[in-house]
Amino acid sequence: MAQADQAFAESVTRLEDFLRIPSVSTDPSFDNETRRCAQWLVEQLVELGFTAEAAPTIGQPMVVAHHPGVGADAAKRPRILYYGHYDVQPADPLELWNSPPFEPQIIDGPRGKRVVARGAVDDKGQVMGIVEALRAWKTLAGGPPCPVTLMIEGEEESGSRSLEPFMLLSKERLAADVCVVSDTGMWDITTPAITTRLRGLVYMEVTIHGPTRDLHSGMYGGAVANPINVLAQIIAQLHDDNRRITIPGFYDGVGEPAPETKAQWNALGFSDTEFLGDIGLTDGYGETQRSTLERTWSRPTCDVNGIFGGYTGKGAKTVIAAHATAKVSFRLVSKQDPEKIAEAFEAFVRARLPKGCRAEFERHGTNPAIEVSEQSRFLAAADRGLRTVFGKSPLLIGSGGSIPAVGSIGRILNMDALLVGFGLDDDCVHSPNEKFELECYRNAIKSHAVLLGEFAQLAR
Ligand code: BES
Ligand code: ZN
Repeated sequence: MAQADQAFAESVTRLEDFLRIPSVSTDPSFDNETRRCAQWLVEQLVELGFTAEAAPTIGQPMVVAHHPGVGADAAKRPRILYYGHYDVQPADPLELWNSPPFEPQIIDGPRGKRVVARGAVDDKGQVMGIVEALRAWKTLAGGPPCPVTLMIEGEEESGSRSLEPFMLLSKERLAADVCVVSDTGMWDITTPAITTRLRGLVYMEVTIHGPTRDLHSGMYGGAVANPINVLAQIIAQLHDDNRRITIPGFYDGVGEPAPETKAQWNALGFSDTEFLGDIGLTDGYGETQRSTLERTWSRPTCDVNGIFGGYTGKGAKTVIAAHATAKVSFRLVSKQDPEKIAEAFEAFVRARLPKGCRAEFERHGTNPAIEVSEQSRFLAAADRGLRTVFGKSPLLIGSGGSIPAVGSIGRILNMDALLVGFGLDDDCVHSPNEKFELECYRNAIKSHAVLLGEFAQLAR
């Protein structure tokens, strides 16, 4: 036991080292750090007996590593591909962090110790869950019992631009029987979960241009279109009174979950009070006649993620801005077609532009929604493994988030994904003071180690 505690303490130290590298993929000024982060991971995997490299791409490097498995039988066992990401979201607003985002702190919380840093749970803690499980296999058996490949990308948080080109060129190297993805959540700290649906995403940036320069709002106000007013008016028209999205054709391809699925969700015992209470709210908001789980797991959305233009400094400045910008994203479900939605949004905006304004669009990546089969033998093996670790079966859940890679893995590499994650709802993903409970980290390591043992029992 003392030995296990010592090993876990070392696993925590390595996670802290990983978290100290500010691998923010969306901002080019961090490019040296993302490269250093990829290299750090490569060194960890080489230490575990893997052949590993940080493969160059048009964007951030892709960490790929391979181990053939130990023992004469390894080649008869299923090949496991692990996917995760080493990049993180930007840390801002910095002033809301209680400690610097890239100086990990181990602090006490109501559920024991936790590590606080950008990327703690999304996704460095979860990637290290896999790496440390592989370390345990090396210590106990000299290496993993099955052939193992890792593909850890550095652009997940910024649209996964290089992922598909990389996969297309590396199909043989990435060949496997299942892809295990650890980038999602548990039901609660004692109840594991397997995620079987993810929403898709269309992320657009729209800029409304008006006059050629910022104007005095007294001299020109009332006589010319104000791009900020125009943008606000268009955004206000995106939803109707029932909070449905008004873009023509937007709901094409949206299906209802099967009645059994809805019944299973209703039986989960989800608490609105807890979910909303944690973020200081008492009431939810969304499409009428829908539960919170339906709204986040099975309904599409349209949200403005950022809006700017004109004077935003202190005090007052009487000005009509030359342009105004909004970042608008859509979460997609079922068979909604990302391309069509992006086009329909552009047409929606253009149809509402007054004379004297023009719109410019930028697309920041699109990916469709995902549903994973609940019948696979790997899911059954994961169920057995998670029962060993937690003493209860994992729940099958949906997620409102998106992991573009999962769709690409199905389409290009032609394999099922198995989404086993260890985050909690209150981990502050993408927010200040992101954290990962050490208990979740410990269970992530244990679970990945046990699951690999279960997969090794299956025939290829
Ligand atoms: N790990 C998250 C996805 C996630 C969030 C799964 C919450 C389960 C619960 C992932 O890293 C993420 O944030 N993805 C982005 C994708 C986007 C930038 C293309 C997202 O969902 O916003
Ligand atoms: Zn993630």
